[in-house]
Amino acid sequence: METEQIRQAAGMIRRGGVVAFPTETVYGLGADALNPLAVARIFEIKNRPFFDPLIVHIADLNEVSRLVITIPTDAEKLIQRCWPGPLTIVLFKNEEIPDLVTAGLPTVALRMPSHPIALQLIKESGRPVAAPSANPFGYVSPTTAEHVRDQLGDRVDLILDGGPCEVGLESTIVSFSEERPRLLRPGGLPLEEIEAIIGRVELGPDEEEKPSSPGRLPRHYAPRTPIVIDGWEKDLGAYQNKKAGLLAFRQVPGSFPSCDVEVLSPEGDLREAAVNLFAAIRRLDALNLDVILAESVPEVGLGRAIMDRLRRASSNFEIDSNHKK
Ligand code: TXA
Ligand code: MG
Repeated sequence: METEQIRQAAGMIRRGGVVAFPTETVYGLGADALNPLAVARIFEIKNRPFFDPLIVHIADLNEVSRLVITIPTDAEKLIQRCWPGPLTIVLFKNEEIPDLVTAGLPTVALRMPSHPIALQLIKESGRPVAAPSANPFGYVSPTTAEHVRDQLGDRVDLILDGGPCEVGLESTIVSFSEERPRLLRPGGLPLEEIEAIIGRVELGPDEEEKPSSPGRLPRHYAPRTPIVIDGWEKDLGAYQNKKAGLLAFRQVPGSFPSCDVEVLSPEGDLREAAVNLFAAIRRLDALNLDVILAESVPEVGLGRAIMDRLRRASSNFEIDSNHKK
């Protein structure tokens, strides 16, 4: 990647533009987090509801104390050990961050990505960069520049192409808005690694909480084609007259009829499966199939985030049916 191009993109961000850029997790759609007009364009481009807050990306640890009120000890430990990397931390924000970014929440989600292009872009722009994944709201996140071009190409000011993303799943989100740290979204940093540093983490949004993380909405990360995860192996006959595709974990089950198949990792490596997941779903989604049959993966390490995305992609609920205002 040409430094000149990154500089140009940084200039666009300073002037209120919206730029798609690679991170190690997925491609982001970035704007100056301190410029509400620029941030509003992100929502417009993605067709994203304003109740869905954005992650603010930084490239310098000193930015954290400028943007939040306090940093709990456990949050500080994660920052020191896991940044830059696929971890987002939710902390109480100060006034500098516009309400639009946080959907009016008193907290802000912060992340320092490890991708060199992302880091350079943020540094050069001199601003914290608000960026959701660079896909239309509710759809599968992009893991290549081409995915972004296909879906948002004519609506963004510039796309920085950094090749395929190394992790392939969105960042893990841990909130420090309560007494105990809470996992809001499993993602590219395995829960086991986080708990090895700060001890037990509460799982899932608490009962009282509104679905402040629409990544937690039942139907999300979803292709157009229906996905079925459970039970189809025992009922293959039911799919005989349908155009069915298979999203396999390690190999094509012998009993499976010939059809369109994506294998996530022939070696059964969850890291490789994570890298391939979204691109595989996109390829199957492009085939105009009646249904995508997906195999489960073991729910350890990155497998937890893979299964979370598959369950949400396969949910039949409407995007906001579970959203309590
Ligand atoms: O890996 C990633 O996190 C990518 C790259 C671009 O950094 N970004 C990403 O952003 O996945 P997005 O907007 O697609 O997902 C961010 C999630 C949303 O579900 C949002 O609701 C949640 O983070 N979120 C943001 N601010 C929050 C807050 N203050 N409290 C709770 N959840 C928050
Ligand atoms: Mg997203």
